[in-house]
Amino acid sequence: MRKHWILSDAACVFGLAIVVLTAHSIGAQSTGVQQAVDAAHTKFKTLKEGKNADYIPALAKVDPNLFGIAVVTVDGKTYTAGDVGTEVSIQSISKVFTMAQVIQEQGLESIEKRIGVDATGARFNSIIAVEGVRTVVGTGAPEMNPLVNPGAISATSMVTGRNADEVWGKIIGFHNDAAGRQLKVLQDVYKSESDSNQRNQAIGALMLAYGYIKSNWPQAVDLYTRQCSIGVNAKDLAMMAATLAAAGKNPVSGKQVIAANKVPGVLAVMATAGLYDDSGKWLYHTGLPAKSGVGGGILAVSPGKFGIAVVSPPLDDAGNSVRAQRAIADISNALGGNPYAVKR
Ligand code: DON
Repeated sequence: MRKHWILSDAACVFGLAIVVLTAHSIGAQSTGVQQAVDAAHTKFKTLKEGKNADYIPALAKVDPNLFGIAVVTVDGKTYTAGDVGTEVSIQSISKVFTMAQVIQEQGLESIEKRIGVDATGARFNSIIAVEGVRTVVGTGAPEMNPLVNPGAISATSMVTGRNADEVWGKIIGFHNDAAGRQLKVLQDVYKSESDSNQRNQAIGALMLAYGYIKSNWPQAVDLYTRQCSIGVNAKDLAMMAATLAAAGKNPVSGKQVIAANKVPGVLAVMATAGLYDDSGKWLYHTGLPAKSGVGGGILAVSPGKFGIAVVSPPLDDAGNSVRAQRAIADISNALGGNPYAVKR
């Protein structure tokens, strides 16, 4: 029997006709999806709140008017509006895919034991959060996660390889597979962040001191900086999100990037910590596992339905793109993307 979910009030906000979507595919309702994407683009393109990140000097120079939206469904259909071709640096969104790679290679428990899967409630580059980390009674596992800088640098250090080139080949390869194309490092961003990442170097050294990184913290920090500098556009990010939405299989290339049984763990950490200390508010309004980056991208996953991404550089105080949050929430609500909202 086919189950239908009927769209909500948000669709009316967009002036959409009520759209009926099947649980298996939203492809058949392509007009409705495109309308929702176009409506969000029109609604938010004049929104001027927020400010580009500037603690990495290259990010301050990116055009704040850049605004692109993309949705990719689990059956591989793509819907876009605005500038979906211009690349920004992926920044913290890369943390999801390096975490996923470690989980894929070494199992769900590897990340849980070494780094943890709990929200820190602190800013993404907090050093006090490392100093004050609590451990789980019985196992001694830290209460941290791979989506804040300390945990992400540790996750990068866990990717195996005989040398830095081999580790990097695996990291960029995993990102390429999720995006379905060969991505490249934006060298100006990599240089700018390498010249200004003393705080992350301090975090790397501290993580070694506490045993969360086993060796060679400078290599881990350098590869982490490189992965944050990978160039992506809104379409790439939506494809990466759709790969997670489609149980780990890139819906266009058909490649199984991460095993289906590992995906729920990845999504759980995104739901817990993907928008840092605003993760709870985000989940409350959308129900979507998501991840932001200070380059201005956010991707979000509606499991079994679609991946969605927006690129817009101005950020709020928590470090999350203002327009991306608003546009994704509107579109997902219009498409019935919230996994907790079951229609009867
Ligand atoms: O390490 C950093 O500070 C950046 N490369 C990434 C931070 C980031 O994207 C936080 N996201 N909202």
